[in-house]
Amino acid sequence: MHAVSQTKATVRPAVVLGAGAAGMMCAAQAGEGALLVDHMPVPGEKIRISGGGRCNFTNMHTGPENFLSDNPHFAKSALSRYTQWDFLDLVAKHGIAWHEKTLGQLFCDDSARQIIDMLKAEMDSAGADLWLSTTVGDITHADGHFTIDLTREGRTVQVRTPALVVATGGKSIPKIGASGLGYSIAKQFGLKMVATRPALVPLTFGDSFAQLAGVAVDARLTANGTSFDEALLFTHRGLSGPAVLQASSYWREGDDIAVTLRPGTDLVAILRTERARAGRRDIATVLGEAIPKRLAEYVTTSSKVTGRLADQSDADLAVLNGQMTDWRLRPTGTEGYRKAEVTAGGVDTASLDSKTMQAKTVPGLHFIGEVVDVTGWLGGYNFQWAWSSGWAAGTAI
Ligand code: FDA
Repeated sequence: MHAVSQTKATVRPAVVLGAGAAGMMCAAQAGEGALLVDHMPVPGEKIRISGGGRCNFTNMHTGPENFLSDNPHFAKSALSRYTQWDFLDLVAKHGIAWHEKTLGQLFCDDSARQIIDMLKAEMDSAGADLWLSTTVGDITHADGHFTIDLTREGRTVQVRTPALVVATGGKSIPKIGASGLGYSIAKQFGLKMVATRPALVPLTFGDSFAQLAGVAVDARLTANGTSFDEALLFTHRGLSGPAVLQASSYWREGDDIAVTLRPGTDLVAILRTERARAGRRDIATVLGEAIPKRLAEYVTTSSKVTGRLADQSDADLAVLNGQMTDWRLRPTGTEGYRKAEVTAGGVDTASLDSKTMQAKTVPGLHFIGEVVDVTGWLGGYNFQWAWSSGWAAGTAI
């Protein structure tokens, strides 16, 4: 415990908790005298590790349909007022070179650190301050002001502000800073929560697919009516790869997911043609020319459709087709927050104003970024939500 300094509380026009993507964007907009606080010794750790070190900082196709939330309309306002093109203008202003990898996903050519440096430079030129290695203690609210106990270098000070912004992110990867602080603050001020769960996360299946570990194939994954066509990867513990991470956000415990292997390719038509041409060939060998060999062995064996092509009836091929186009799988769970890229759920959007991200019942209290119940798809959408919601709150203060 540290004694609270006897000096009078300093007053700041805004205090932002969490120097991640949303918090840095917000502080840069809030401007002169705004104070950004983080308990880590450096800001923007998730930006640094994102996109394999190159940060997939936005997506050209960003729209509200790329987000999950109890209220799918909530994100529209912020996303339309600070768009992916606005962020690209900022990136261009700072001379950061970028490229599109696939599906509208934009990455730095060089390093994710350029995005952190860019946000720091924006904060500096706006006159916002950054306190790192700072512990957030009690927060009280009276007479339209929040008073926050902040401890750094062994000393606790009180900071008063009319505008408190919570940008402390989700639960994934605690070792680089994740904590439940934002959720506790929401509860302290009586805001509703949507139950949190790991999202963009590998799905587990016990050891069902251990023999396929390392196999990758293009697939369509469908969970709760939403489908994604991307790569599917078999692992020792289950399924991963972009298609699975995307579907995981829609998956709920006890649900099946449906898998189509090589969507857009009629695998059974290939088998039928080959049956007419070279019926003595083994079905798994022929299928193994269109999908990975180990997977071809697995699906033929598990469908009990094995042996020479000539011995397979149309009914046998229909059984195999069922497994390849509508393969129903029931995950046992997910890899959890340890591996999740984001946390779905969070502060209920019904408690917030969509234009300013301000709590409807607590004037001056704002929530932005991942702590809010808005979760993007894989592909740069989560950072765009951080920029858009951070900008919305920062410009409203
Ligand atoms: P963020 O997590 O960035 O920041 C929260 C900040 O609050 C942190 O600095 C933390 O230290 C601080 N904090 C937490 N508790 C605190 C406390 N008690 N006291 C003080 N400070 C506290 N998205 C994307 O669009 N493109 C991508 O390429 C990737 N890649 C990616 C890779 C990996 C491995 C992960 C885990 C995640 C991604 N993401 C991503 C998701 C993206 O990183 C995420 O959605 C945003 O960082 C969320 O931004 P926020 O600012 O809301 O939280």
